[in-house]
Amino acid sequence: MEIIHVSAECYPVAKAGGLGDVVGALPKYQVELGHNAKVVMPMYRTKFLYNNNWDLVHEGYQQLGSQQFKYAVIREKTNVLGFELYLIDINGLLDREKIYGYDDDTERFLAFQIATCDWLSKWAHQPDIVHCHDHHTALMPFMMQFCHAFKHLGRIPTVFTIHNAQYQGWIDWNKQALLPPFDSWKWGLLDWDKTINPLACAIKCASKVTTVSPSYMEELRYAANGLENLMQYERGKSVGILNGIDADVWNPQSDNFIAKNYDDHAVKEGKRKNKKELCGQFGLDEDKPLIVFIGRLVGEKAADILPDAIRNSTYQHRGAANFLVLGSGESEVENNLEHVKNQLHGYVNTYIGYNETLSHLMYAGADFLLMPSRVEPCGLNQMYALRYGTVPMVRSTGGLKDTVKDFGDWQGYGIRFNNATVPDITHSVGRAIDLYNNKRDLYNWMRSYMMNINYSWDASAEEYIKLYENLIEN
Ligand code: ADP
Ligand code: GLC
Repeated sequence: MEIIHVSAECYPVAKAGGLGDVVGALPKYQVELGHNAKVVMPMYRTKFLYNNNWDLVHEGYQQLGSQQFKYAVIREKTNVLGFELYLIDINGLLDREKIYGYDDDTERFLAFQIATCDWLSKWAHQPDIVHCHDHHTALMPFMMQFCHAFKHLGRIPTVFTIHNAQYQGWIDWNKQALLPPFDSWKWGLLDWDKTINPLACAIKCASKVTTVSPSYMEELRYAANGLENLMQYERGKSVGILNGIDADVWNPQSDNFIAKNYDDHAVKEGKRKNKKELCGQFGLDEDKPLIVFIGRLVGEKAADILPDAIRNSTYQHRGAANFLVLGSGESEVENNLEHVKNQLHGYVNTYIGYNETLSHLMYAGADFLLMPSRVEPCGLNQMYALRYGTVPMVRSTGGLKDTVKDFGDWQGYGIRFNNATVPDITHSVGRAIDLYNNKRDLYNWMRSYMMNINYSWDASAEEYIKLYENLIEN
């Protein structure tokens, strides 16, 4: 099968979060299953571009409203990522260092989708599946069926994966002219609540809709940032498939970013050495349980209550645990975290920013990973933590619910709590401290057990293949 993944992110080319990890891994596993999976993404000016070799495969011209733009498609020569990687270059729009956060993001990702459709429509053959990820690529199923120039792509089955329904890519109707000419009576497919809503449009137009965990699919039927009724209506073509992790990249036995490699037999010693390195770097006490948070500092992740939760936990449990936070996001949260760090020097430290290397050392060196998320479509961090023998402490929601079992339950290996609140987090920190200090046998058993859970893409990559096969057969 020839599968085209279209995405704004793909690790290690460009990553802002879990979307990048997924698109960097799923195609590789699909290739291992014998399929021809490819990734098409924008050509940002990231390190990966300059450190690899490329062939120019296509050049073309398209319109973004009244403006003509030139695009080029380049292909990485050696399939270094385990699949064919294509970058779309559009000077003036995509040639930036960052992935998102520009005033013209709407125009940038519209042009990307238009160029991708145009390039696909020039192929001598048609791929079997086009698989689009999140709102930046969500207008493609519509464009392929209803934009005059691309209509002959309309018979290719499309899959749309919702990684996060909080972000829908809303476009004001007064920008309608930026879209290539389309069947005007189809405007209703673009619309949701009087705006062009790319996410809603993909849910309506894609042949199949997936979310990144089964529980998140259920949740979207009553909490989808305004799209609940649509998710209900389209439930027949929707399915939740749990994300996996790239077991080559996230492997404590071979990870080059950590201080000491280890497997489940050497977990105690391996983690001790990584913890020593981490605590040394951040002035923390290696004899106390170390609880870390890694992620975007935004409301969805409940990062706003993190400063108070850390302060409260430190006071209530008399400094029995240390905390380390890695993340960036809302400036108020960043400032509050810096404040707690200064107030509780020696107990709490932070790294405000994005640091891939440090994240690996934290998964390896920490004892517990805290994820109090209000919304978590899947969450990869908790699965990385499990692989590195770090106990996840998670709120029972979305993918966290599907991947972590509380240690109070039979063969449980994590800590779960119900509410994203300071009292619930403080209580869970108490349980973590007790587990670490007083239930050593259980704690050691949990670490070896969790390291052997297989959350790699093996099973889910196959599930996607079955989904595609059903579409092709029908
Ligand atoms: P989301 O995609 O919602 O941010 P996920 O749990 O799916 O959440 O994935 C987050 C990914 O981004 C993980 O690979 C995590 O390690 C990484 N990450 C998040 N914030 C940072 C950061 N500040 N520095 C390094 N890696 C980060
Ligand atoms: C999104 C979600 C996260 C998920 C990731 C990859 O960013 O917030 O929960 O793991 O996509 O699918």
